[in-house]
Amino acid sequence: MIKLHDKYFKPFITAKQIDEALQRLANEIAEDVGDEIPVFVGILNGSFMVVSDFAKMYPKPCEVTFIKLASYEGVKSSEDIQRLIGLTQDLTGRTVIILEDIIDTGNTLHEVHRIFKNEKVKSLKIATLFYKPEAYKKDFKLHYVGIEIPNKFIVGYGLDYNGLGRNLSEVYQIKETQYMTNLVLFGPPGAGKGTQAEFLKTKYNLVHISTGDVFRYNIKNETALGMLAKSYMDKGALVPDQVTIDMLNAEVEKNTDAQGFIFDGFPRTNAQAEALDKLMDSKDSQINAMIALEVDDEVLVKRLLGRGKTSGRPDDADESIIRNRIKEYYDKTAILKDYYSAQDKYFGVDGVGSIDEITKRLSSVIDKL
Ligand code: IMP
Ligand code: MG
Repeated sequence: MIKLHDKYFKPFITAKQIDEALQRLANEIAEDVGDEIPVFVGILNGSFMVVSDFAKMYPKPCEVTFIKLASYEGVKSSEDIQRLIGLTQDLTGRTVIILEDIIDTGNTLHEVHRIFKNEKVKSLKIATLFYKPEAYKKDFKLHYVGIEIPNKFIVGYGLDYNGLGRNLSEVYQIKETQYMTNLVLFGPPGAGKGTQAEFLKTKYNLVHISTGDVFRYNIKNETALGMLAKSYMDKGALVPDQVTIDMLNAEVEKNTDAQGFIFDGFPRTNAQAEALDKLMDSKDSQINAMIALEVDDEVLVKRLLGRGKTSGRPDDADESIIRNRIKEYYDKTAILKDYYSAQDKYFGVDGVGSIDEITKRLSSVIDKL
């Protein structure tokens, strides 16, 4: 991630992908122009890198020139295009190809067409490395498009945010939501996870996503994902991670204005942890911490047996079942402890004491994130 002025940007398009797109454009254009010697017209400032790299890849003789237009203020395109340097050579009868770094609303392209309206060129074609179809508002044909991208602000490879970022050799995309607190909450059975999740939820305005609840909700309401999950469960098969991730994604999307999430019961494997990272990344966010409540086995056994006496839950009544569940928990979470430790995101919290004492310990971890 990088920071330019007040905004954060994440890696988006690699130098290699740019290279491949330009190579494709160069070959396509060279093929189409045949024996003509084209004049490539770059639109400054943004297109300087595109023109330079493209021209080196162009396999046949060509001419290169520039015009200079300006439209963008900050991260918004403006209608008011300034013509800073116009055409400086006669292009009568020539095959002209505009080389753009990016086509967004098409306002700049409109101005380009105005400039060429009275030039008696043989043909005028438009090539652009990047194109934002959702933002494009004009009807001008785009003859050559390198890479279509979503309507999000990007920097690098000639493109700037208020002057910065043009020199980056890769392209970065703006991060839109970044100040969330997303926790993965762990704890062996009997550690008091449910109680603490309730508290954290209120104190930090987080949404508690318990995978078990999400499953039950989707199956009960017969959502498409619920039915899909059920079809695996009915066959006695494991529900594929992607189905679970899609359910979690739906939960996250239902709560777009949340300050963050507490994930409970997920991830359980390395692959799931990676999938969760990807999901959060797609939301311009991330998992900030895995917090595990640590409670000694003997204390857990005592607590659960105590609970079994009043709750009537059969799996809380049998000591060997309890010990098994605790062991299974440690077997499973050991991998995840490593996964999050490697990113400095693992926090073990002593789960023995009064509810209040434990919530204080949890808060002191979260407040430091
Ligand atoms: P348009 O006139 O809206 O099509 O925008 C064209 C010009 O706006 C480009 O030549 C860039 O200078 C600038 N621009 C559009 N989108 C971006 C972006 O995502 N990042 C940086 N500059 C952009
Ligand atoms: Mg430009």
